[in-house]
Amino acid sequence: MKKILAIYGSPRRQGNTTLLLNHAVQGALDTGAQVEKIVLRDLQMSPCLEIYGCKETGRCVIQDDFQEVYDQLLACRGVMLASPIFFYTVSAHTKILMDRCQSLWVKKYSIDKIPYGQWKPERKGLFISVGATRGKRLFEGTLLTLKYFFDILDAELWKALLYRELDFEGDVLKHQEYLQEAYEAGKDFALALRAEY
Ligand SMILES: Cc1cc2nc3c(=O)[nH]c(=O)nc-3n(C[C@H](O)[C@H](O)[C@H](O)COP(=O)(O)O)c2cc1C
Repeated sequence: MKKILAIYGSPRRQGNTTLLLNHAVQGALDTGAQVEKIVLRDLQMSPCLEIYGCKETGRCVIQDDFQEVYDQLLACRGVMLASPIFFYTVSAHTKILMDRCQSLWVKKYSIDKIPYGQWKPERKGLFISVGATRGKRLFEGTLLTLKYFFDILDAELWKALLYRELDFEGDVLKHQEYLQEAYEAGKDFALALRAEY
């Protein structure tokens, strides 16, 4: 079974990225995939304290809900991550998760000494994001952050669904075509995982 982790990064419970990710999850489930959901706003997760307690083992020493997420990240083959754009990057909830994964950076590059760029993809990633404005560069910062986050997860970015001009909770419901696209992407994502791993 190719397990997919669906990570909800918005502080809103029924926000635009949540609705889109729900559709992607449904698409994956409809292929028979196994999906685990993580709603970041429901977790107790400290930001990275930069104490490098992870330097011996590659495991973070802060005892909070990240410990379980760490295991889930390593166990999955697909990551679906959804975050709104906040100040041209991901939400604070999402960024806290990313920063805690510095422990995986330590494991990969400092402990296991993998030469940069020479890793084998172990998982695939589907990224979903929305912003309120329509600037050409709206997703640039986020995509750069995501690139390095996926790098430490040994994940290749399979697809990014990026939508502009969605602001209020539920705005995406006026765009059934976006929700349909997310559903199809979730389905194709699960099928791509099945074909590859
Ligand atoms: C703290 C904060 C910062 C934001 N920064 C941006 C921004 O830089 N650019 C933008 O287009 N929208 C920005 N927005 C708007 C959100 O991206 C937008 O409301 C989005 O639809 C929220 O997605 P969600 O419903 O999934 O949480 C910001 C909203 C908040 C609350």
